[in-house]
Amino acid sequence: MARQHILRFPEGFLWGTASSSYQCEGGNKNSQWYRWEQQGHIFTGEQCGEACNWWEDAEHDFQLAEQMENNALRLSLEWSRIEPAEGQWDSGAIDRYRAMLKDLRSRHLKPIVTLHHFSIPIWFAERGGFADEANIQHFVRYTKYAIENLRDLCDFWMTINEPNIYATLGYLIGTHPPGEHDFVLTMRVLRNLLQAHIEAFYAIRDLQPQAEIGYCLHYRLFDPANELSPLDRSAASLQDTLFNWEILQAAETGRFYLPLKLLVAPIPYASGSRDFHGVNYYTREMVRFDPTIPTELFGRRFVRPDSVRNDPGKDIDFGEIYPYGLYRVLKSIFQHTRGNKPLYITENGFSDALDDRRPQAILEHLAMVHRAISEGIPVRGYLYWSLVDNFEWAEGWGVRFGLIELDPQTQERIPRSSASMFGEICRANAITEEIVERYAPKVLDTIFGATNGAPYQIPV
Ligand code: BGC
Repeated sequence: MARQHILRFPEGFLWGTASSSYQCEGGNKNSQWYRWEQQGHIFTGEQCGEACNWWEDAEHDFQLAEQMENNALRLSLEWSRIEPAEGQWDSGAIDRYRAMLKDLRSRHLKPIVTLHHFSIPIWFAERGGFADEANIQHFVRYTKYAIENLRDLCDFWMTINEPNIYATLGYLIGTHPPGEHDFVLTMRVLRNLLQAHIEAFYAIRDLQPQAEIGYCLHYRLFDPANELSPLDRSAASLQDTLFNWEILQAAETGRFYLPLKLLVAPIPYASGSRDFHGVNYYTREMVRFDPTIPTELFGRRFVRPDSVRNDPGKDIDFGEIYPYGLYRVLKSIFQHTRGNKPLYITENGFSDALDDRRPQAILEHLAMVHRAISEGIPVRGYLYWSLVDNFEWAEGWGVRFGLIELDPQTQERIPRSSASMFGEICRANAITEEIVERYAPKVLDTIFGATNGAPYQIPV
């Protein structure tokens, strides 16, 4: 079989980047994350500060996205700006978001807007946030207000970013606010977030029937350290099932099939409450059975030795760069959901300050997306995390995910080589041999098929 010289993506494929309000806007002092920073919880001791200055001038970066010929851009609304105190609405915040969305549209960048991306107003956090089911109504009220005021400018909404990460980091691992370590509470928060998504979904559907509405989950693979060890396999499979697939099933069906399912009340009306699946994928971890760590479900997680890796943070090891994992995730979601909805990759990114692994990583992950599409999995878009370096939550400014390098002190931007490569891919709506030759020649064969005719020989 001859080598393919081009990997074309379907017409209308969405190309863009993803970001969030707290990480980019700057000055969000009514958010629980601001308070968390003041309490000294950022591992680098840094502060978000002006972030990427988007509240003043997001348009500067939107122009860079336009120059890359992106046709979509994902951002989030900052609830703590729109409703800084309970029941008080700031029309100035809405005006600013209207200006941002208009600017995106004028540049042919389709706005994809998330309503909740980790940051909540302090007043809402003080009421117990999503740990209290009674508070969901506040999120739904804010959702309605946002849709009523912005629906003429956006028709693609994501309710909640990564309920599984929000619940795990805030309520189990405790590195995000409110810094709890409580499994039962984690499950409650997760359940309430899924319910909040469903209620928000139907509220949006009523107000804007033609809108596309969904949410995204974070998918992280867990593989056995030793394939031949039944104990390693069971430990890995338990983590994989609980973190990825049971959560997806719970979101799909409203029923949790967890060991503690009796503690988790079912969620009504789950089924059908999304128009697409948002997929955030970054990495995988290896798992070795370890009888001494029941709290980790008897599985010791680690990064595969000798793998190509992301830059590590101070606390989080961003781990292995594992392109084949994206294909596996897409395929598994397709199977778990019986292909019921289109998929969008709403985040995929690499921390690589020197940009010496990112171009290859993007190419290899996109080749996996292409492979999934060619097998009939309806992937409709790819959003790279992120356009510019931004404030990486508890890791502060320590790790760099941007296509564009940012100096947060001077606000100077320097596009990385990945930015020009991503622009070329978006422009061509394809990965061409020329692009690969220029940015990552050593993966030509793995991307286009080696001489033995086997396509996409990216290591598994
Ligand atoms: C989050 C982003 C974060 C990214 C990189 C995702 O889980 O949605 O806010 O910056 O991971 O760590």
